[in-house]
Amino acid sequence: MADVATLIEAARAARERAVAPYSKFKVGAALETADGTVVTGCNIENSTYGLTVCAERVALLKAVSEGHRAFRRIAVVADPADATPPCGPCRQLLWEFCGDIEVILANLTSNLGHHRLKDLFPLPFDARLLG
Ligand code: THU
Repeated sequence: MADVATLIEAARAARERAVAPYSKFKVGAALETADGTVVTGCNIENSTYGLTVCAERVALLKAVSEGHRAFRRIAVVADPADATPPCGPCRQLLWEFCGDIEVILANLTSNLGHHRLKDLFPLPFDARLLG
């Protein structure tokens, strides 16, 4: 299991690879799997704007595509002094694939705290409701 500081550093390094020429808002994510593998992601924007993919989703989809299906926690790093939490669509996908993981929020210098995903996404729609 990676320590929290190592996970945050991995997210900071991923943030450096962000493709954010439109918003200039660079985000990095580091998702730790149940076996301790760390899979990173950065936000990737494009000229249509609407097809932007957040750092969290890049990390999640990379991990799933590489065969990982059990997850422990995710660190998310952006520049602002106030924490940058996952957006709504990312919360949905993290919930469906990762369940109630720990979400660690940090900026370039500090760990800004951690949350359980169920607290960030308290009344989810998910496959259980499909019957
Ligand atoms: N973004 C993320 O990658 N993750 C978040 O948690 C919040 C927002 C990205 C999307 C877009 O490229 C930029 O940040 C501004 O919204």
